[in-house]
Amino acid sequence: MASVTVNGEERAPARAGRNLLSYLRFDLGLTGSKYGCGEGICGACTVLVDGQPLRSCVTTVDAVAGGEITTIEGLARDGELHAVQQAFVEQSAMQCGYCIPGFIMTAVGLLNREANPSRPQIREALADNLCRCGTYQRIERAVAHAATVIGEAR
Ligand code: FES
Ligand code: FES
Repeated sequence: MASVTVNGEERAPARAGRNLLSYLRFDLGLTGSKYGCGEGICGACTVLVDGQPLRSCVTTVDAVAGGEITTIEGLARDGELHAVQQAFVEQSAMQCGYCIPGFIMTAVGLLNREANPSRPQIREALADNLCRCGTYQRIERAVAHAATVIGEAR
């Protein structure tokens, strides 16, 4: 039985071999992380583990035991959206929205390791996330805007 911390709270242990995305969605009711391909290809299920992106559909809870997991539900603080979430809203970066939690978590992971990414760095970091609505340019613009806002707040 693996114990994990999710969005700052120690959560009920998962049974051995439990898939992380299923644990989050069905055991904890955190449905912001999406099931897309289920094969590690689309990025819809991306969460952060110790600040870095991980595809939860191809990960067991055991594999991240002891780690600090953050889902899209855990990004806002004191009722304020994270700067990346706010930028996605301001830049109208979503159509259906299904891919967006995965893009946002991937972008937050990028900004955790690179405070001031260039456009090519942003593009590269997001390259393996798929958006069936094709809002890539707006997503890239939103991430660049978030980096600027976070930089100005420092
Ligand atoms: S659902 Fe996990 S990568 Fe597609
Ligand atoms: S906004 Fe629809 S899949 Fe990306």
